[in-house]
Amino acid sequence: MIINGKNYRTVWMKSNVIYTIEQRLLPHEFKIVGLKTAKEAADAIKDMMIRGAPAIGAMGAYGLAQAISNQKETNREKFIENIKKIKKMLWETRPTAYDLTHGLNFVFDRIKNQSYINNIKKIAAAAAEEYADRSAEACKKIGIFGNNIIKNNSNILTHCNAGALATVDYGTALAPIRLAYYNKKNIHVFVSETRPRNQGAKLTAWELAQENIPHSIIADSAAGYFMAKKEIDLVITGADRIAANGDAANKIGTYGKSVLAKENGIPFYIAAPFSTIDPNTKTGNEIPIEERSQEEINYISIISNNKLMKIRMTPKESTARNPAFDVTPAKYITGIITEKGIIKPNELRNLL
Ligand code: MRU
Repeated sequence: MIINGKNYRTVWMKSNVIYTIEQRLLPHEFKIVGLKTAKEAADAIKDMMIRGAPAIGAMGAYGLAQAISNQKETNREKFIENIKKIKKMLWETRPTAYDLTHGLNFVFDRIKNQSYINNIKKIAAAAAEEYADRSAEACKKIGIFGNNIIKNNSNILTHCNAGALATVDYGTALAPIRLAYYNKKNIHVFVSETRPRNQGAKLTAWELAQENIPHSIIADSAAGYFMAKKEIDLVITGADRIAANGDAANKIGTYGKSVLAKENGIPFYIAAPFSTIDPNTKTGNEIPIEERSQEEINYISIISNNKLMKIRMTPKESTARNPAFDVTPAKYITGIITEKGIIKPNELRNLL
């Protein structure tokens, strides 16, 4: 992704330090943070310094490779036991995105049958790098396939941030949008703000602004209004986990938008790499949905004097519920844009 004219990935590793963009400060401050331990990598995922399914998958892969490299244990069996514990700690950070499981398993499966610790360390570092490269490449291809469904003069609605910041690079839902814009199509993006953490208003709008892609931020509740007025031609969102029957979990509010799209005859696409598809989860009902702190509903976060501040917005007596994701049933999904092409949700089971 291009930031201030320079190309960046969302997460990368150099000399055993993991670097990532501190997303909680955006759009006010662009800051790169270096993480030196698996605990720091786990906290970065849990506290949402980095977020978005493919991005946390890559952070998991790098976090595990870094932990393997940092291990001092010389007994191979004990070494593997320690690594399993660290893998579990990274895995427990966020439950919904399948990419995290995928990224951790990708690195662990490469080392688990190796005999020599020195080899294990080298193989793990190479595997994490390969995982990140493959993940970026998958998103690039999603852009190429997805670009084909974007007609000239389109208004596209997206929800949350499924951009480069949510992946290693390019994005999922934003990859086709980027490519359509680079191909000189006349497009405009409706960005729904995505309460409570506002990933749309803060992150998607920031990414689009970096590349001058025309966009308007709308309140989450305004999507139906614009659809009914025929101002939205197409909806593309990302996903955190896709079940084998094509049901897709994504940021809370996605389900409502899919129903509105169906009602208004608007195509609704999910853009996601195969690393988001969980063959072992049969339907959306089985997808674990993260419920986050009430604080995210009751307080608004603002940056003042370069400091992140929280201000209570609701009565102090009120309690709140805060599911981070919902499930869009396959019947509302026109197609899943993957790195292997656009798939109908009901074709998924056969492919898997
Ligand atoms: O809670 P977040 O910000 O991690 O949620 C992110 C989303 O819901 C994205 O839409 C999803 O991960 C797809 S990212 C390419």
